[in-house]
Amino acid sequence: MDLSLNGEGALVVGGAKGIGYCIAEQFANEGCNVVIWDIDPNVEESANKLAQSTGVQTCGIIADATDYPQCEQLAKAHASESFSVQHVVYAAGAGSGKFGFPFWNLEPSDWPRIIDINLTGAVNITHAWIHHLKEHDSGSFGYITSVAGQIGSQTDPPYSAAKAALINWMQVVAKDVAAYGLRANCVSPGMVKTTINQSVWQSWYDQAADDERLDYDTWAESKIRGLSALGQWQTGDDIANAIVFLASNRARNMTGQTINVDGGWVLHS
Ligand SMILES: NC(=O)c1ccc[n+]([C@@H]2O[C@H](COP(=O)([O-])OP(=O)(O)OC[C@H]3O[C@@H](n4cnc5c(N)ncnc54)[C@H](O)[C@@H]3O)[C@@H](O)[C@H]2O)c1
Repeated sequence: MDLSLNGEGALVVGGAKGIGYCIAEQFANEGCNVVIWDIDPNVEESANKLAQSTGVQTCGIIADATDYPQCEQLAKAHASESFSVQHVVYAAGAGSGKFGFPFWNLEPSDWPRIIDINLTGAVNITHAWIHHLKEHDSGSFGYITSVAGQIGSQTDPPYSAAKAALINWMQVVAKDVAAYGLRANCVSPGMVKTTINQSVWQSWYDQAADDERLDYDTWAESKIRGLSALGQWQTGDDIANAIVFLASNRARNMTGQTINVDGGWVLHS
């Protein structure tokens, strides 16, 4: 399916690795120029790898989405010095690294960092780019949320709450930007083999009794089989397929939506 994104520009925040890198790669495969922002020091290397494999223009910048003045300054610099950006995707995220239930296993002091990365970072990025995106006739914001944000997941309460709030923020953005030809949507993964997913297993493993401990793959397989209708892993490309489609004009009538790419984990009746 031709998504007609050729020659446009996309920013992927949190794109140095994992799901974000797959999203950056799929935009590039569609002929989009791609800028990646990430706190990971390998971000430039990731962007170079993408340029070599796809031939589009890329740049990789060390950027902390929780630092609004930095984001605003970097967005201004990019807009005046480099290719134009029509699509902004927020794929950055982090968990607390602690076993989340009951909720008093965590302290209230565990919350601010997780809210900052998973929610406030997305707000910062949207503020930093809105006036640049408004200069074009069309464009999109995409946010990676989680099944955790829709089911009161006990796994990591601050993470779940931040992801739920991110869905609400996306809905506000969708309403406010519609008059400018812009759209906003969320994509919600279930289980993808990445560092975040592995850290959830690690926090479970660390507190489990010796005779109950399972290796990562066995733990994940039983969780996936028990909780999702299709009983299978998602891949970063599964998530990227959805977010890149939503950015394209093929989804011109889709805004304010949360699309679960979760193998049928969250099933609304
Ligand atoms: N992997 C899963 O099973 C799963 C499930 C549901 C949702 N998600 C969500 O998918 C998104 C991508 O996560 P992933 O699984 O690829 O994990 P990942 O750890 O591989 O990628 C997250 C990226 O975000 C970057 N990042 C973290 N804090 C940042 C900040 N302050 N500023 C800029 N970049 C920052 C990290 O450096 C990393 O490159 C996240 O929002 C995550 O919550 C993942």
